[in-house]
Amino acid sequence: MTMSLPYKALVPANIAFLKYWGKRDVKTQWPANHSLSMSLAQSVTTTSARVLVGASEHQISFSGTLVERTSSFGRKAYAHLDYLAKELGTQAYLQVNTSNSFPTGCGIASSASGFGALTLAAVAAWQQADSLDTLEKMGFTRHRLAALARMGSGSSCRSFWGGYVSWKVDETTGEQELVHLFSDEHWDLADTIAIFSASEKKVSSSKAHLDAWSSPLFEPRLAGIGEKEEQMINALRDKDLSALGPLLEQEALEMHAVMMSAKPSTCYLSSESISFISWLRKLRQKTGLAAYFTIDAGPNIHVICEQQDQSKLHSEIKKCYPQLDFIVDHVGKGPQLVVEAH
Ligand code: DP6
Repeated sequence: MTMSLPYKALVPANIAFLKYWGKRDVKTQWPANHSLSMSLAQSVTTTSARVLVGASEHQISFSGTLVERTSSFGRKAYAHLDYLAKELGTQAYLQVNTSNSFPTGCGIASSASGFGALTLAAVAAWQQADSLDTLEKMGFTRHRLAALARMGSGSSCRSFWGGYVSWKVDETTGEQELVHLFSDEHWDLADTIAIFSASEKKVSSSKAHLDAWSSPLFEPRLAGIGEKEEQMINALRDKDLSALGPLLEQEALEMHAVMMSAKPSTCYLSSESISFISWLRKLRQKTGLAAYFTIDAGPNIHVICEQQDQSKLHSEIKKCYPQLDFIVDHVGKGPQLVVEAH
């Protein structure tokens, strides 16, 4: 068996400010609502892919361990490679190595960076494209790559740009659109991720998405999403954290209220996450520190503040939570693609 050069994709996680929650159609990955996120700089999935000449199956390894097709990650990952191969009309099998710079499956958007990186590395290996520009010239624009990645995990489509990205659905035209709202240079927001659990969640977000429609809070949420989106975009444009922050918190709590009031009910928050949220609010009242939380599908809390306030936030966290692990991150530049020399 011979192998081609490895194509290495580095794709960031993104933290949703306006959450993608609920699907209108699973088969086409049609989200129930528009969403908006910030791409991160440090929380990244790195995936290398190369063509295995003469092989009869793909080989995916995660952090050095071979992933079985039948495992929960394996089912989704191999199915996504099968889907991509069909879309690209190739029968070549790939060897894929992937790893995350952060804990997996606990609300730090590993599926966004993971499926983004798997898509980018696989397409680059099949096309033998050494950069994003080369891919674009071959017709694989970021929009096309994002649409392919979305079929593996919805939120991954927002990870194909740096800065601030919106994923829109247009019911009248039947189209989905990714909009690069602002680059990372527009506003240097930081994300400090307080880790209350690094273990994989028991209910996957893909499963919990499907239950959203059973919550009595879901339809009212959808009715108000457009207005919230507009307010968030205005706050981002004006770099106004006093306007954005309360929207972030309300949006995260609203999504968790939908999850908790669905049938079956899913609660991703732990008592530690709740007490951290109330600590953060008290800290803000007491010191005026402009730091606001958001939460994805997990117990870990993302604290958003301006980069200049991040070290003050960290010293306050260390004073009150000396044992707490946290990830220090900020807005990033988006994906990278490189070819590794042997
Ligand atoms: C809470 O993208 O993980 O992070 O499309 O089923 O893979 P699938 O779901 P996924 O959902 C992410 C949900 C969220 C909010 C968000 O990122 O917008």
